[in-house]
Amino acid sequence: MQLPYKIENNTRIFDWQQTCRYLIHIGKLRYGQSFTFHKEDLKIIYRLVLYIIRDEENCKQRNIDLNKGILLLGPVGCGKTSLMTLIQELAFPEFRYRVKPTRDIAFEFQKEGYDIIHRYGKSKHTICLDDLGVERNIKFYGNECNTIGEILLHRYDLLIHFGTVTHATTNLNAEELEQMYGNRVRSRLREMFNLISFPVSSQDKRK
Ligand SMILES: Nc1ncnc2c1ncn2[C@@H]1O[C@H](COP(=O)(O)OP(=O)(O)O)[C@@H](O)[C@H]1O
Ligand SMILES: [Mg+2]
Repeated sequence: MQLPYKIENNTRIFDWQQTCRYLIHIGKLRYGQSFTFHKEDLKIIYRLVLYIIRDEENCKQRNIDLNKGILLLGPVGCGKTSLMTLIQELAFPEFRYRVKPTRDIAFEFQKEGYDIIHRYGKSKHTICLDDLGVERNIKFYGNECNTIGEILLHRYDLLIHFGTVTHATTNLNAEELEQMYGNRVRSRLREMFNLISFPVSSQDKRK
């Protein structure tokens, strides 16, 4: 597969068509032959690509702040987790991240307790907190703690003090996020993240 860019003056110059072909190619290998880019998603994918290749000029024009993370919003199954994973193929190594389901973090909290908040809230690695909100269905026996909310507050401090970026995905909207994590978190979300939203009508790709 031909690379999606050529190098001129030490800079990668991306070709959008080839970038699509390249990502679809890898997507098919990873998620199955039916993987493709749907026309209605191209605008969102384009924004994500501009961000991940750190195209300063185009990001600036579109109000995408490279010093913040991405919060990818959209209905269940629209392809958030796949995209956040896939676009890393275009990232320089120092900007890659682990995609970590919040569900797993909630289970780890159940088993290991408050250390978990430090593990994810104080680590200076970029991370993608995948599926904010789904962890609410996990019961904490006796240990009442808004684990992910706490981690988000810590990660806000990491951004302010060290410039450490956090990414996230969710199928909640802004009001639901506030209900879930409280006003303190909500007011920080805009400072931490570039919000990129799939339309509510986005197709569930699992069907
Ligand atoms: N662009 C796509 N084309 C075809 N299938 C896709 C596409 N994006 C995701 N899928 C598949 O659809 C399912 C849901 O995708 P996922 O990324 O988990 O969605 P979300 O995280 O938004 O719930 C997965 O099985 C994935 O392999
Ligand atoms: Mg997901």
